[in-house]
Parts: sequence; C-alpha cells; structure tokens
Amino acid sequence: MNHEEIVVKDFPILQNRKIVYLDSGATTQKPVQVLNSIDKFYKNYNANPHRGAYSLSIEATEEYENTRTKIAQFINAKNREEIIFTKNATEGFNLIAYSYGMEKLSKDDEIVISIMEHHSNLVPWQKVSKITGAKLNYMYINDEFELSDEEIESKITDKTKIVGITHVSNVLGTINNVEKIIKYAHKKGAIVVVDASQSIPHMKIDVQKLDADFLVFSGHKMLAPLGIGVLYGKKELLNEMTPFLMGGDMIEYVYEQDTTFAPLPNKFEAGTQNVEGVIGLGAAIDYIEDLGYENIKKLEDEVVSYAREKLLELDFLTLYMTPNTDNHSSVISFNIKGVHPHDVASILDSNGVCVRSGNHCAQPLMRFLGVDSTCRASFYFYNSKDDVDKLVNALKKAFEMFKKYIG
Ligand code: ALA
Repeated sequence: MNHEEIVVKDFPILQNRKIVYLDSGATTQKPVQVLNSIDKFYKNYNANPHRGAYSLSIEATEEYENTRTKIAQFINAKNREEIIFTKNATEGFNLIAYSYGMEKLSKDDEIVISIMEHHSNLVPWQKVSKITGAKLNYMYINDEFELSDEEIESKITDKTKIVGITHVSNVLGTINNVEKIIKYAHKKGAIVVVDASQSIPHMKIDVQKLDADFLVFSGHKMLAPLGIGVLYGKKELLNEMTPFLMGGDMIEYVYEQDTTFAPLPNKFEAGTQNVEGVIGLGAAIDYIEDLGYENIKKLEDEVVSYAREKLLELDFLTLYMTPNTDNHSSVISFNIKGVHPHDVASILDSNGVCVRSGNHCAQPLMRFLGVDSTCRASFYFYNSKDDVDKLVNALKKAFEMFKKYIG
C-alpha cells in the first residue's frame, strides 16, 4: 500500500480536511479501526472493569486486561503486571519520580538526563533533586545534535542513581543509542528511565533487549486516543515502590487508619481508568502490527529522506538535525533566519500545511541551541512526497513574504 491508499482507506480526517498534516510528533491522526474499536466498546462492553460481578463488567474487565497482555507482548515485557496504564507519558515520569526517585535518592546521589529531554522527563527530576538534595546533571549534545560516548561516560558516574533519556528527541529527531546508555549506566549501578514517546510509533521496542528499567510512552502519538499512556517497569522495581496515587481499586484492605495495597499492576492504577483509551490503544497496536514496523519504516524513509533533501536545498532555512541519517527519525526542526517561527507556521497554515511552532516543551534545549523556538515538521507513514512538496512551496512563499523585513 502507498501513502495515498492508506489515507483513503483508513484516515478520514486527512481526506475530510484536505490538509497536509505534519504534526504527528504532537499527536498522530487516528485510523478508522481505532475509532471503531471505541464505538464497539461503548455499544457492547461498557461497564466499569474490576467493579462488578455481572457479565457486562466481567467482559469490560477482560477487554481491559487483554489489552494489557497485548501491550506486554508488543514491547516484549516478561510479565503483564509490568504494564501500568497512565493518562500520558508525563504521568508515567511523575510516578517514577515520586515513587522511586523521592524514596531512593539522597544528598550525595546524582540524576543524569540529556539536554534534549522533553519537560516531562526533566521537570519531575528537578523536583526530586530539590526534595532529596540529589544533584541533577545534564549530558549535552555535540555539533551534530547527538550525544557523544565521551559525554555519556563523563556524566554517568558511580554517584549516578537515575539516568533519564529520550529514545528519540521530539525536537531534533536524534535517535539515541539507549541500549548502549543503559549498558553503561548499569555498569555504574544506575537505573535508566527511557522516554519512548517519539520512538514507539516508528520502531520496534523490546524492553528486555534494551534492558530498560522503566520505559514510558503515550498512546496518542501512536494512533491511539488522547489520554492514555503506558509505564513499563521491571517487576522487582515496581514491587518495592509505594503507590503514587491513592484511592479506589489500588487497595487490598482499608482500615480507619491504615491500608494495605493491591499487588501489581492495580497498585498503580487508582480510580476508574480510561477504558476507552485502553481499548483504542489495543486497536492502534493491532493496526501497527498489521502494517508492520518494516513497512512503516519503508514508507517513512522514502518521505523523510526526500524532506531532508528538499529542505537542505532552501538556503534561507536553519535546520536542527544530525547529518547522520541513520541516527535521525521523522522529525525536522527549522527556522527561516530572522523570522519568528509562529509567523512562519501561520503562513504555512494558510497554505494548508500544519506544523508545530514554539519551544516544543524543551526550553533548556532551545536555550542550548541559542533560540527561543523553532518550527517543526514531524512525519508519519500516512505522509507523502507530495506533502513535502507542499511544505517546501509554502516555505518559499513565506520567505518571499518576509524577506524584506529580514535584516
Ligand atoms: N510532546 C508533544 C510534542 O513534542 C506534544 O509535540
């Protein structure tokens, strides 16, 4: 199947709105299969899982729990109890920060994260640092927008207890060698928290092969609905952690003054969950598996390499991406020199092209790059070379319009 056939068959919004959607890094569009799964859930199985002894609630429980098993298989977790549903990646990082970081770290310890982290894998570690006294250190990128081995090895030391690293940068598209970072961190006795939000839509994740201690992602960047995320954690780590949120369904016995907690995974899932989100995420995984990561990569490579080539030809652009294409995913950030990215994005929008502009929830990275903000085009398998041509034409128009104001 080519890009156009995929759009016609599965993505109604892309046909209805006649837009060039280049903001899948912020959220992907949803295929009909995902939309139908939610409709089917409400028409056939809707009840509160784990709450009723009647068959409808039991069926809702089965749908919910079967999706947990599906996710465990999808990322090759050893145990289904290692999959915790959250509302998004941010909640996953906060859970680890509060239930692991706050409890395990103290004054002489260090936390190491990269300068390219999204705020969600950065601000929670600032909080842990402030509360525990542990030092927060950064690994900085080189001129090629990558982390060098020397940088990794000089920052992760015997004092490091937690390493936070994004698999793929949401701004630069740099693919970090997380397997290598994890191996090195483990040698130093640290655990590693991987942000897979921008990688799992595009590439196979195997948590056992990576040997990740924790891995977090959100559903909405991989075709699923908004409001559902996943936290994977090694069972032995999750077992020794206290719950993050307290309330219904995460308990075993509740007394007036004390409570014992449910075993994994319920211990970390307080209150009624986003069941439609879970069901939709299950359908999204089915979609990705049916299409296959190999095909996804093939479809994306063709378009993203074309985009790199065409954008590099525009000498009025500054591009923020590694020249090593093997280490580059489906995100391209750029600026028209001397023009504010919001102005550029508005002109693109008036030409039917949707890109994100701003700091991309990565202000420390922006500061490091010496800019306030950038425009960002992010691609998925439903984008085509024609979308790239439309982006390039709209950029040329924007440049023509602004060039007289550029000093
Ligand atoms: N984290 C999402 C992005 O990078 C919203 O755009």
